[in-house]
Amino acid sequence: MVDNASRFPKHFLWGCATSAYQIEGSPLADGAGPSIWQRFAHTPGRVTNGDTGDIACDHYRRYASDVDLMRNLGMQAYRFSIAWGRVLPDGVGRVNEAGLGFYDRLVDRLLEQGIQPMATLYHWDLPAALDDKGGWLNRDIADWFVEYAQLMFRRLDDRVRYWCTLNEPWVVTNDGYLHGYLAPGHRSAYEAPLASHNLMRAHGAAVQAYRALNGRNPIGLVVNIEPKYAASQSGDDLAAATRAEAYMNRQYLDPALLGSYPNEMPDVFGGAWPNFPPTDFDQIKQKVDFIGVNYYTRSVTRNDPLNWPVRASSVRQKQHTYTETGWEVFPQGLTDTLLWVKNRYGNPPLYITENGAAFFDPPQVEGAVLEDPLRVDYLRKHIRAVHSAIQQGADIRGYFVWSLFDNFEWAHGFSKRFGIVHVNYETLERTPKMSARLYSEIIRTNGAVLFD
Ligand code: FCB
Repeated sequence: MVDNASRFPKHFLWGCATSAYQIEGSPLADGAGPSIWQRFAHTPGRVTNGDTGDIACDHYRRYASDVDLMRNLGMQAYRFSIAWGRVLPDGVGRVNEAGLGFYDRLVDRLLEQGIQPMATLYHWDLPAALDDKGGWLNRDIADWFVEYAQLMFRRLDDRVRYWCTLNEPWVVTNDGYLHGYLAPGHRSAYEAPLASHNLMRAHGAAVQAYRALNGRNPIGLVVNIEPKYAASQSGDDLAAATRAEAYMNRQYLDPALLGSYPNEMPDVFGGAWPNFPPTDFDQIKQKVDFIGVNYYTRSVTRNDPLNWPVRASSVRQKQHTYTETGWEVFPQGLTDTLLWVKNRYGNPPLYITENGAAFFDPPQVEGAVLEDPLRVDYLRKHIRAVHSAIQQGADIRGYFVWSLFDNFEWAHGFSKRFGIVHVNYETLERTPKMSARLYSEIIRTNGAVLFD
């Protein structure tokens, strides 16, 4: 008989992930300052159906029962984000004790229920007051971020078990400053490298500040990685895949872990790529305790001169399954990604900090289980893909499903459901789906159920 219990490492951490603006609701409650998402969502035409995070999952008010629900599902860890503007309404300066109180209570409740808190400092909801001063384009943001980070470290480091500085700097830049799909909605190839660079400076500065405070928990950076496979062996497609991969994957991990940008960056951005002060890299490259990898899909990449500045685009794979966000289901890409990080960056400790899929759920039938077979299949295959990377030597410490709840999926509003728990947006009732049941079993058996 195979020893199923030994299939995942003994202390492998199983959890789920969310972010503040996507689930909390009440974005201006108790003295909170508005974020760029508050502004963006309230700008007509920016979000599908005019949806906003005003109510979202109402987690701000229901956090206690939500934590109980997590406990009932067997969660061992919970990755959430802190809304910067709740605790510092103007981004810097005046502290809002009521906002801090919310995260105090959330963390205490998690610990009472035996769930380890993993807090992300920045999951895209920049205080609007800081955007008014240039946001991520202003070099001072590294200092602003440190002020905020220090406040949270001082307040919560006795109880938070893991810290993440930034969530997905690539998306912040690519979608927020280059293409304008997400807040703050800018479209400029000149701004994008500046935003990226200041994000990385802020990350490094926050890690430095944490060490200076003698922080006692692991701290890391969360990136989204999408492996790029060339659509053909032609020189043009191979070069396009390399460019796309440098732009999306190495642009953030290289400076953070190796202390320099990929050589391809000036080719990607042409004259828009600045000469950054070399001393900045001393700040950016800090020893981190782990890397958080968010994985959703891959890209089969071809040369596409019209898709400026990267000049690459993805080729749709006929007869493959795509999710409701148009992402190909490709579990092997998760194994490949984890092994790529292992090999390129010297086998750092890794957490899969997000992985999941949006699919349409069938209509809810009173008393019946909510079947979500595509998500069940997605999770099974991707968690096996994690296991395969562990077998091949990657140092993977845990896995967080995205997401606990159906929630506000940024520019898609509520139209894309990623939850393992269904949320009825009229009644706000929470109903675990089949995928939640599967995930509970995975946790209970430490993954063995996947191999039965
Ligand atoms: C990631 C984000 C997360 C969620 C998922 C679907 O890029 O970090 O907030 O939107 O995608």
